[in-house]
Amino acid sequence: MIKIKPLDAVVNLEVLTAVSARANQIVASVRANMLAPEARKIPPVFNSAQMAELMGLEKSAVLYQANKGDIPSGHRDGAIRREWSLVEARQAMRAFRKDTLRDPKKSAGVCITVANFKGGVGKTTTAVTLAQGLSRRGHKVLVVDCDPQGSMTTLFGVLPDTDVQEEQTILPLCAGETDSVMSAIRPTYWDGIDLIAAAPLLFNAEFLLPSRQKQERDFAFWRVLDSGLDEARAEYDVIIIDSPPSLGYITINALIAAQGIVMPLPPNALDFASSAQFWNLFTEVCGGLFQSRGDSKNFHFLDIVLSRVDRSDTVSEAVRQWIVAAYGANVLPIEIPKTSIAATASAEFGTIYDLPPSAAKSSTMKRARDAYDRLVEHIEHQIMSIWAGDISH
Ligand SMILES: Nc1ncnc2c1ncn2[C@@H]1O[C@H](COP(=O)(O)OP(=O)(O)O)[C@@H](O)[C@H]1O
Ligand SMILES: [Mg+2]
Repeated sequence: MIKIKPLDAVVNLEVLTAVSARANQIVASVRANMLAPEARKIPPVFNSAQMAELMGLEKSAVLYQANKGDIPSGHRDGAIRREWSLVEARQAMRAFRKDTLRDPKKSAGVCITVANFKGGVGKTTTAVTLAQGLSRRGHKVLVVDCDPQGSMTTLFGVLPDTDVQEEQTILPLCAGETDSVMSAIRPTYWDGIDLIAAAPLLFNAEFLLPSRQKQERDFAFWRVLDSGLDEARAEYDVIIIDSPPSLGYITINALIAAQGIVMPLPPNALDFASSAQFWNLFTEVCGGLFQSRGDSKNFHFLDIVLSRVDRSDTVSEAVRQWIVAAYGANVLPIEIPKTSIAATASAEFGTIYDLPPSAAKSSTMKRARDAYDRLVEHIEHQIMSIWAGDISH
């Protein structure tokens, strides 16, 4: 007979503290190696084929414009090939696409929040890819990381635990110490994208906001980020907010601040059910808040984008039909395929727009790239429609 020994209750807080200290130490050293300051993120460069693709021109037309001086001429990589830095590529796009850019005299920046109840559905990846894609097309973008886990911050090469001070997050805004986000903004490795970072300390906002609501009579906790972004709306063409995987005080702020919502949704039953709960809760919560204040909120768009789609998975086809039945025209005809981006070591901390073209040659990678390009184009269209409305009113 097997003798079973009784278990001693030895997993006390001290043990857990020691485990946590060891784990944190390992995370810190892995990150320090992968993201040593000098090894931190490097912006992409563009060869003439990529410039042609970006600008929607023939290669010869790009070279013609560069020689004529209409766009930056780039620099020679060796004797023949010419290369453009991200800064130059963006300058070229701004010169080439003047008509599609925001006129700051007529329109304010558009704020878009990427949201979903669940973690791991592709929110952060979508938010960062959208920001990069829009900035590649010439727009000036502010990204706001509202998730205390700081994944978006990490994707920009900034370590939440060591590189982020409270003043560089939206926490002072939530605490009522400031009424604008402007002082929290920092530049990133990517020209045309500035960042408001997040770190675990941001979690305090989940206590500060309800506590202020109890104490201050006219306080509307749900409008804090919305009004805090006003100055940034004059400065930036697009503001992209990444939100935490929950419907707390921060997420409500992120949604109320937005004119458009993008919801990445993998076509599987649990994620679908969870998205239904999300809208249920959000409308209930907001309904209650607005009724008490005579407040209201309209969104210009809600776009559901199927994410992490595995084409070989037959179940997902049925779920896709539920999604279309539930969300109708809000479901974009764009599917982000499941890819092993993470297989490319550098991409563990990057997106498809960070990859060198040589890494994007496999067919799934190419499909993912095409899907993101189309998503960026679609969202740019939504943004331009909002600007068009500003002008006609
Ligand atoms: N299309 C995709 N295919 C495969 N893995 C993906 C894809 N999009 C995101 N991932 C991975 O899934 C994980 C969760 O993605 P993330 O964007 O952080 O989601 P969320 O912000 O919703 O938690 C990350 O490790 C990310 O690299
Ligand atoms: Mg995330």
